[in-house]
Amino acid sequence: MRKPFLVTALFVAVVLFFVTCKQTKKKEIVSPVLVSKYARPLTNIKYESTTGRVNRGKYLVNGVLRCFHCHAPADTNQPGHPPIENMLGGGRLFYGNDSIKVYAPNITPDKETGAGNWTDDMFVRALRDGIGHDGRALGAMPWWIFKELSEEDMASVVVYLRSIPPVKNKLPVRLLMPEWETGLQNEERSMKDEPVPEPDTSTLVAKGRYLVTIGECEGCHTAWYVRNPGYFGGGNIIAHDGTDSVIASANITSDTTGVGTWDDKTFIRIIRTGKGNSLHYSMPWIAFRNINDTDLKAMLAALKTIPPVKHRIVNGIKPSLCEVCGQKHGYGDNNKITPILPVAVNTASYQQFAGTYTNKYKDTTLIALKEKKLWVQIKGEHPKEIELIPVGKNIFNGSGLPSAITFITGTAGNITGFVNHDLVAVTSLKINTEK
Ligand code: HEC
Ligand code: HEC
Repeated sequence: MRKPFLVTALFVAVVLFFVTCKQTKKKEIVSPVLVSKYARPLTNIKYESTTGRVNRGKYLVNGVLRCFHCHAPADTNQPGHPPIENMLGGGRLFYGNDSIKVYAPNITPDKETGAGNWTDDMFVRALRDGIGHDGRALGAMPWWIFKELSEEDMASVVVYLRSIPPVKNKLPVRLLMPEWETGLQNEERSMKDEPVPEPDTSTLVAKGRYLVTIGECEGCHTAWYVRNPGYFGGGNIIAHDGTDSVIASANITSDTTGVGTWDDKTFIRIIRTGKGNSLHYSMPWIAFRNINDTDLKAMLAALKTIPPVKHRIVNGIKPSLCEVCGQKHGYGDNNKITPILPVAVNTASYQQFAGTYTNKYKDTTLIALKEKKLWVQIKGEHPKEIELIPVGKNIFNGSGLPSAITFITGTAGNITGFVNHDLVAVTSLKINTEK
C-alpha cells in the first residue's frame, strides 16, 4: 500500500491540481509542455501476447482499474456515465476550464492519434512512474496506485491495450499555467522500477487487499483534508453538483456506519447496480460492476478488516457541517466525534517516543515532546499537530489521526519504531531521536 501514514504529498499535489484549476478562471497564460527532470530512461521490454494475458488485461482494465472511466468519452445520459462503446481508450477532455485543459490521452493502437507507435515501456513508465511517452510528468493519472500492479498484471494490461480496436481521435496537448508545468517538471519520480511480485491470493482477505489497493478505493474514500477520521472513513468531497449539493465519498470501513453489517449479496448488488442506478458517476461502479463475484467477495472481506470509523454520510440531502471530517455533507450535523479514552501511563517515559520515523515509502513522521505531551506533526494543505493519547501499553491514538499507532521496541527495550494500520500494517522505523 503506497500510502504514507499521514498525508501523501503526491496525492495532495494531484488534488490541488484540480482545486487550483477551479480558482484560476480567465487567466490566459499557458506554457509549452515540459519534459520531467525525472523521466527515467526507457527500456526495450516487449511483452509476449498470450490469450491468458489478453483476457486478464481486459478484465482488469474494464473492471477494477477503470482505465476507460477516464480514457474514453462518456455517455452522460446514462446512469454511471458509461464509456461510449466504440470509443474505448479513445481519450477525452478530462478537466477543462477557460485556461486549463487536461486530456486523458488516446491509448488505443491508432498510429496517428493514439499509442500505435509507443513502446511497451512507455506504457509501463506512465503507469508506474507517471511519465508520459514524450517525457512529461503526468498530472492526473493515479500512477502511484498502478505502481502496485504485479509484473504479470502489468504485462496483461499492456498486451490487452495493444489488442483493442484503434480509435481515431486526435486530442490537443495539455494546457497548464507555467508554474504548474514547472512544478510537475520538478516533481520527483522514481528512476528505476523495482519488480513487483505476484499478489498473495492464498486467503480471501489477502486477495481482496490487492484489489482494493489497485482499485484506489482509499484515495477517494478517505477525508484527507480538514480532519481525517480514519482511512476509508469517507467524507472526501469528490464532486460539487451545483451550489448547495455535494457528493461525498461513503464510509467503507468495518463500522456499522460503513460496510460492517453488509453481507456479500448486498455488496455485490450495490456495486453491480450502482445501488439501483442511484450512485453518482464519480464512483466508478460502471467499471467495478464487471468485477466477478469471487473478487467482490474478497474485496468486502478486506474492507471488513479496516478499523471501524463512526461517520455517517448521506448524499442527496442538504449538506451540514460535520465535526468528524470538518466539512459539509449530508447528515453531517448528526455525527459526533467519539472521544478517545486515555489509560494511565507514566509520562516520564515519553521522551523515548520522541523522534523522526520513516517507512519503506520514504514518508517521514515527526513525533515531538512538548509540555509533557506527545504530538505528531501533520503536513500538507492543513498542517497541524495532533496530541497522542495513550490507549494501551505503547499504543497511542489521536483525534483526527487516521489510525492508532503501536510503538515497537528493540532487544534492549528501546523504542525502534511504530506500526500503524492502513489497509495493512505499515512499519515506520526511528531514524533519530528528538533532543
Ligand atoms: C482518474 C482518471 C484516469 C484513470 C483512472 C486512468 N488514467 Fe491514464 N491518464 C489520465 C490523464 C488525465 C492522463 C494525462 C495526464 C497529463 O497529461 O497530465 C493520463 C495519461 C495516461 C498515459 C500516458 C499517455 C501519454 O501521453 O504518454 C497512459 C499510457 C495512460 N494514462 C494509461 C492508463 C491506463 C492503462 C489506465 C488504467 C490502468 C489509466 N490510464 C487510468 C487519467 C486517467
Ligand atoms: C473516484 C473516486 C472513487 C473511487 C476510486 C472509489 N469510490 Fe466508492 N464512492 C465514491 C463516491 C463519491 C461515492 C458516493 C456516491 C453517491 O453517494 O452517490 C462512493 C460510494 C461507494 C459505495 C456505496 C456506499 C453506500 O453506502 O451507498 C461503495 C460500496 C463504494 N463506493 C465502494 C468502493 C470500492 C470498494 C472502491 C474501490 C474498488 C471504490 N468505492 C472506489 C467515490 C469513489
